[in-house]
Amino acid sequence: MLKEPATKYRPFPPVSLPDRQWPNRVLTAPPTWCSVDLRDGNQALAVPMNVSQKLEMFEALVRCGFKQIEVGFPAASNTEFSFTRRLIEDGRIPDDVTIQVLVQAREDLIDRTFDSLVGAKRAIVHLYNSTSPAQRRIVFGLGKPEILAIAARGTRWVKDRVGRLPGTDLGFQYSPESFSATEVDFALEVCEAVADVWQPTPERPIIFNLPDTVEVAMPNVYADQIEWFIRHLRRRDCAVISLHTHNDRGTGTAATELGMLAGADRVEGTLFGNGERTGNLDIVSVALNLYMNGIDPGLDLGNLGRLVDVYERCTGMTVPPRQPYAGELVFTAFSGSHQDAIRKGLKAWETQSEGASDAIWDIPYLAIDPRDIGREYSEVIRVNSQSGKGGVAYLLESEFGIELPKDMQREFGPIANDAVDRLGREVSAAELRSMFWREYIDLTGPWQLTGFRTSGDGGVVRCTSALLREGVAVELRGVGNGPIAAFVNALTSDGAPKFEVAQYSEHSLGAGEGASAIAYIQIRFADGRTRWGAGVDTNIELASIKAVLGALNRALALP
Ligand code: KIV
Ligand code: ZN
Repeated sequence: MLKEPATKYRPFPPVSLPDRQWPNRVLTAPPTWCSVDLRDGNQALAVPMNVSQKLEMFEALVRCGFKQIEVGFPAASNTEFSFTRRLIEDGRIPDDVTIQVLVQAREDLIDRTFDSLVGAKRAIVHLYNSTSPAQRRIVFGLGKPEILAIAARGTRWVKDRVGRLPGTDLGFQYSPESFSATEVDFALEVCEAVADVWQPTPERPIIFNLPDTVEVAMPNVYADQIEWFIRHLRRRDCAVISLHTHNDRGTGTAATELGMLAGADRVEGTLFGNGERTGNLDIVSVALNLYMNGIDPGLDLGNLGRLVDVYERCTGMTVPPRQPYAGELVFTAFSGSHQDAIRKGLKAWETQSEGASDAIWDIPYLAIDPRDIGREYSEVIRVNSQSGKGGVAYLLESEFGIELPKDMQREFGPIANDAVDRLGREVSAAELRSMFWREYIDLTGPWQLTGFRTSGDGGVVRCTSALLREGVAVELRGVGNGPIAAFVNALTSDGAPKFEVAQYSEHSLGAGEGASAIAYIQIRFADGRTRWGAGVDTNIELASIKAVLGALNRALALP
């Protein structure tokens, strides 16, 4: 890299707009969305979509609720042409959906584009030519007047052919390609010339699509360009202002959002930001950003997983795990403190939202409720060596209904964490359950229970317990104010170190008659040492007796 980048690169000149209004505005409504997946997105694929993939993608876009879909560049190839024909001839375009087709300002290409649209109910012809200084100088070797003439002539060619599509409600869109790198007054001059030819009206407005073809400046500069353009446009009431951003600097979403504040009405983009180089604008992000601010985006993204599947199948691209909203990991916390906060947040949400239709989402680390877009709370907390007791406890509870007492979480958390650290990878809830079972339930020595009976009256319980002590059968009897106390008495009066029950809880595991119960017991020795034990049985009394024995076995195994 250069030590002095200024010798090779220069800062982008700001737009002079000292009384800019957009920073003080707030978005309150969604724009009109136009998907360009089947055109701009498709042009960026190493292997472009074939007709059946385009059909599947088209249907997914319609299901999402897109009312404007740029279906291709029909004059560019046979596939593009026949796809457009297929949509029209098979009657696959719903009445409320308008297809859009792109074309350069060349007469033969415009002819072919019109041929592709015969029979369409509603369509937009999208004409473009590039206007920036670099394009004028390097690519076309033309001055401003000739570039303006290309746009005006192209518009005339389109206008002259409108009569060829008598049954079609035909709209017109013009893009000064590379708008954001064009002097803003020249971009406006070209658009005014186009409008002079087209003669839009408030009832039949022209769409001016102002592309950030290559992102060359910060998003606030794009917003200034949009606001400047809108404020200087002669007949604002006859125009729909459309944004089309790319993501070269990684700020396509920001540029679009600021452009919307600047007054744009319409947004073009693709699912998950597929598109040339670093991609087009990711429409899903902007739509869900609106949603998280309480604005209905007008798109149904409630099953984002299904959309990801269609997208990946059709484009051959993959949605990265950190992709906003759609990525596999975007609702997942591995870190212990995040897990703890999320766990508490979700618990609070359950209580707060019970029966309330207007409970406001405000859960730490979760920008929106994952369930709103078809994700599950089970993906929110995943456990690896970065995780803490909270994550372990959450997975055991949410997947298996094992509700560890708080103190036991403190004991088992580090045990699980050490095991996960040794494995050096993420562990599943089932693996955590096995660790728990190994640590607390499957213990067989030195004591093992083979039988347990109680009898009693007047609040006094007597127990007879059959046990194996290091493999040797013994029978112990004890008395207490309950079965557990009687069993502790039996053990401690026959050689086990003195201990008492410090904490106890139990609950059922699952439902129904065959459901088992799990008991958690913490025992405390005379010297203050404590150990947790757990026991599982279909009989709750036996579950607690096993838990006592488990705690004792653990204490004896790990003094
Ligand atoms: O990025 C761009 O400028 C385009 C135009 C054709 C609208 O895709
Ligand atoms: Zn583009």
